[in-house]
Amino acid sequence: MSDVVWVNGTLRGAEDHAISPLDHGFTVGDGVFETMEAVDGVAFALTRHLLRLEYSASRMGLTGLDTAHVRKGVLAVLAEGGEAMTRVRVTVSSGSGPHSSIRGNAAPTVVVVAADSPPIKECRAVRAPWKRNERSPIAGVKSTSYGENVVMVQFARAKGADEALIANTHGHLCEGTGSNVFIERGGELLTPPLASGCLPGITRGLALEWGAHAGLPVRVAAPGELEMAVLDEVAAGDAFAAVTSSTRHVQPLAALDGKDLKAGPLLSRLAEEFDRRASNDPDPAPPRDL
Ligand SMILES: Cc1ncc(COP(=O)(O)O)c(C=O)c1O
Repeated sequence: MSDVVWVNGTLRGAEDHAISPLDHGFTVGDGVFETMEAVDGVAFALTRHLLRLEYSASRMGLTGLDTAHVRKGVLAVLAEGGEAMTRVRVTVSSGSGPHSSIRGNAAPTVVVVAADSPPIKECRAVRAPWKRNERSPIAGVKSTSYGENVVMVQFARAKGADEALIANTHGHLCEGTGSNVFIERGGELLTPPLASGCLPGITRGLALEWGAHAGLPVRVAAPGELEMAVLDEVAAGDAFAAVTSSTRHVQPLAALDGKDLKAGPLLSRLAEEFDRRASNDPDPAPPRDL
């Protein structure tokens, strides 16, 4: 089925020219976005995704975002597309603007798209030769300025992989181009702290909460506790790794830099617990802070 598209309050044809060529999101990546999984016609964790959209918009200084309006768009594309839809993407930009990086005064452009994308069955990762700048003004923001991630995932694909794992400027493990990362080491499950520059992933947050609730030894690592070199231990089979994202859930690495890997026992339990809780609770209550 073709994508179902909603732009600024109206369902449109997937190929309609509904956005200005001067849209600042299009010209300079001045926008924010969310990607959600849809299950049986319902967007998973919609409330948390809308909160993060607000967080990203506020970090970008984008004003005029109405999340109730965005929620209506999500419901509209899923009502139209039905249960075949597996993914929903929300994009909000600052609207039409000047040709420079200076933002205009237009109302935001809001686009919601539902698609029936196939599930991502496994994660074959490589180590990226570039760094994530944890001191960037948009570190940890789900911004449409994702050019770095595009280049890094293309690098991964050229090596027969589908995800690249990135260190920050200190050489600490940070995240993937479209995922957070968990390490199983010494009987513990650890994920890099937000100070590493990683996105506050919705799946990461739920895996931490639901994993701890199930009694798994899962926690946020202290800054610097997870060096990028922990991936040498993963490659040697002395530790294990998984990525988390809305489209992958908790997915143990099947390969790193071309070497096949086994799934860690605790990560496998975390993955099972995540799926069990997610299927019982399609819109988990938001955390007190992101
Ligand atoms: C850079 C980055 N990190 C982490 C994630 C995982 O976030 P979530 O679990 O909210 O999908 C994503 C999602 O696309 C991402 O783009």
